Amino acid sequence: MRRKIVAGNWKMNGSKDLAKKLVGHVQSEVGSLDNGVEVVIIPPAIYVNDVAKQSGGDLAVGIQNVGQWQSGAYTGEISADMAKDQGCRYALVGHSERRQLFGESDEVVAAKVERLTSCGLTAVVCVGETLDEREAGQAEAVVARQVKEGLANVAADQWDRIVVAYEPVWAIGTGKTATAEDAQAMHASIRGVLSEIGAPAESISLLYGGSVKADNAAALFAEPDIDGGLIGGASLVAEDFVSICRSVP
Ligand code: G3P
Repeated sequence: MRRKIVAGNWKMNGSKDLAKKLVGHVQSEVGSLDNGVEVVIIPPAIYVNDVAKQSGGDLAVGIQNVGQWQSGAYTGEISADMAKDQGCRYALVGHSERRQLFGESDEVVAAKVERLTSCGLTAVVCVGETLDEREAGQAEAVVARQVKEGLANVAADQWDRIVVAYEPVWAIGTGKTATAEDAQAMHASIRGVLSEIGAPAESISLLYGGSVKADNAAALFAEPDIDGGLIGGASLVAEDFVSICRSVP
């Protein structure tokens, strides 16, 4: 059974006060959701504890990045085991901002996925094409490569710890959301690639991210291969984030 998930990626935003107020509001509303959606808050790592405490266990907590090593002399890095130790259940991997700004390759993504699944966290593997790649007709090929290479190390018994988030780079933070039809087409393609590599494709949750807002979420989430969303800017506004969570059918 595919999980329905709405995850809020705060990126490098937030504060203890936001963690208290926003998470407190979302937590108070989640109980009234009757759509079975799993709500995940992914703050900057320094606020994971604040979010976990405020969520009262009603929301899942995630981390935006982990190191590709188990432990050691990697100043500034946080390991998957440490994230698990602090109560995280999810971790983003391969977000386009990490690929573009920090040189995160498909190989590094695969190493991080292996670290996460080996310690029981769910890896949210982010894939997506740039505008140039889409305009060159390369979108499906680029995303297929990211899926195949990013998931190369997943063991046969660990697919239940994998979620894939399709985030077209040209839609992130731009207000230019992919149409529901285009997003569905790419999600169906991703599910086909998952089948090709021997994954239980029908049971893996596929999330859409890229300018998801309260007024477009329902159309996106109504698509058969879109199982929820990875939300950036709108996750920092409690009412908007709750509205997006309510939009999951
Ligand atoms: O990880 C989610 C993020 O990349 C999407 O950002 O602001 O377009 O919802 P936004």
